Amino acid sequence: MDGPPHRATSLARCHNIADFRELARRKLPFPVFHYIDGAADDEATKRRNTEAFDAVDLVPNVLAGVEEVDTSVTVLGRKTALPLMLSPTALQRLFHWQGERATAAAAEKFGLWFGISSLASVSIEEIGRRFSGPKMLQYYYHKDKGLNAALLERARAAQFDAVTLTVDTIVGGNRERCLRTGFTTPPRITPASVFSYAAKPRWALDYLFREKFELANLKDHVDAGSSFALSVADYFNTMLDQSMDWAAADRLRQDWGGKFCLKGIMSVADARRAADIGVDAIMISNHGGRQLDGSRAPFDQLAEIVDAVGDRVEVILDGGVRRGTHVLKALSLGAKAVSGGRLYLYALAAAGQAGVERALSLLEAEIVRDMKLMGVTSVEQLTRENLRWR
Ligand code: FNR
Ligand code: LAC
Repeated sequence: MDGPPHRATSLARCHNIADFRELARRKLPFPVFHYIDGAADDEATKRRNTEAFDAVDLVPNVLAGVEEVDTSVTVLGRKTALPLMLSPTALQRLFHWQGERATAAAAEKFGLWFGISSLASVSIEEIGRRFSGPKMLQYYYHKDKGLNAALLERARAAQFDAVTLTVDTIVGGNRERCLRTGFTTPPRITPASVFSYAAKPRWALDYLFREKFELANLKDHVDAGSSFALSVADYFNTMLDQSMDWAAADRLRQDWGGKFCLKGIMSVADARRAADIGVDAIMISNHGGRQLDGSRAPFDQLAEIVDAVGDRVEVILDGGVRRGTHVLKALSLGAKAVSGGRLYLYALAAAGQAGVERALSLLEAEIVRDMKLMGVTSVEQLTRENLRWR
């Protein structure tokens, strides 16, 4: 994009998600930045996830009387103020010392759904105790059956509103940026990376002198929970159960008994199967391009999945969303809501809770402004009539 010279050197100078990304890059040791920003292989899928929105154009209607706009939707049984969810992401206290607490507090303030990862750095109990907004536990299906049962019981006791089983990480994706930087959790300071940490003393001091980093929901079960430095790919490849199948997903759904979502569905056939076993929602997702590079973009798959199962399950589009217009395009095709990771993670890394709040207020303003410019006053009014394919 051409324009006047602009450097995102402070929160006040961040006007869009790309600006937060730039500020995060300035603040983080490079192994941590590239863990967030990176994806698998050639990162073609990550790029396409956002570019796919350019394949359709919005066709506005005017003179519609738009002074009052209702942006709310109900997803998985809970009302949210915007059709926007904060996807579960791992290790947030490595990105900013406030971690998941900042994300949860910002989500609550804006009335949004958020998820914590199985690999969260704050406990399920603390999140349940402190935040009353709609929240999901993202569930990784481990070989350790005791851990699996404990995650479910803890989510139940903490009154989480939904469990979301991620189904696209049966093995670790090939994240070459992480191979090059040697990123592990917890970070291992090696001769090759010591300078990247020393170059960001603010981050390093927070990491060293605030609460000790740990994977709060795994630590009592696996060595990788606390002190043992492991790459994310090694975690997937050694801890997760590759025999996971539809019967396992259905058993988990029944054991949980509450709202249940599958994250990482990409094909119509799988969407139908998900509906058949009775899931409440699916997230069309390729894990932000971090798993199977060359996988189709969620937005490119959205219409056919909505046509196949939209009357039986809630279809959530996850990945690539960076603008209010992306949200409107997905809703026009029939998504119930959209969800995203990096759209709030760069902001978290840039400035903690204040950063996430600024990112959400910009996205909220974009959604409201774009709805007014489209001539609609509620999200149900967004239909395929508003879109033309190029
Ligand atoms: C993720 N994502 C993810 N998904 C999941 O099911 N469990 C997890 O622990 C994580 N962790 C994670 C960490 C980081 C740093 C990123 C960027 C992503 C994937 C996430 O939930 C979501 O699917 C993607 O972020 C969507 O793509 P965008 O919105 O980042 O483009
Ligand atoms: C990731 C995880 C942990 O994408 O799901 O890095």
